[in-house]
Amino acid sequence: MKGIVFTEFVEFVETKYGLSMVDQIMDRCQLKSRGAYTSVATYDVQELLALVVELSRQTDTPVSELVVEYGRHLFRFFARTRRSMFEHFSRCEQLLESIEDQIHVDVRKLYPDAELPTIRFERLSDVMSKVHYSSTRPLADLAEGLILECVVHFGEPMEVVRTDLPPGDGTLAEFLLSRSR
Ligand code: HEM
Repeated sequence: MKGIVFTEFVEFVETKYGLSMVDQIMDRCQLKSRGAYTSVATYDVQELLALVVELSRQTDTPVSELVVEYGRHLFRFFARTRRSMFEHFSRCEQLLESIEDQIHVDVRKLYPDAELPTIRFERLSDVMSKVHYSSTRPLADLAEGLILECVVHFGEPMEVVRTDLPPGDGTLAEFLLSRSR
């Protein structure tokens, strides 16, 4: 997993819980990288999960809640730092539809060793669509946070309902999106 996901996670923890919490979880996790992340290097996803589990212990917040919240933070970060890319989209569905064939393709051009999920978008009707998440990493919670914040970003009233699919370990999930008007 690219370091950008780690550096932004540290930023998320610092913003929400303060620098002392960053130090505390880093100390307790004793990671191989020692938390010296650079945005272009690659790290084991297990490091991220270890940090989240420790943060969950320290804050008494469920792991999945923290990862969803981090996904929201990460989306805001992308929207802020890649403004020109976001200008192409005026609706949330347009962005979601282009992740697989455009956004993540550009990510791979930038980082050839990026570990990306498969995000399939399906338009079901004028008001309903479905996003299918599939990965070798158990990050459906991260996908949920990214999708929820994508909806907020475009300011459109929309309900998002998640269904976890077998094996139920966070590697496969579906999100049903319905516009409320
Ligand atoms: C709602 C929109 C998006 C969703 C649902 C989504 C989903 C994800 C997920 C779940 C991952 C973690 C890897 C995995 O699960 O296997 C990921 C990785 C990543 N995504 Fe996206 N993404 C979205 C939009 C974007 C945007 C807008 C950008 C940047 C312009 C982006 C860039 C990246 C990068 C850099 C990684 C890390 C790759 C790595 O760690 O090697 N994504 N994406």
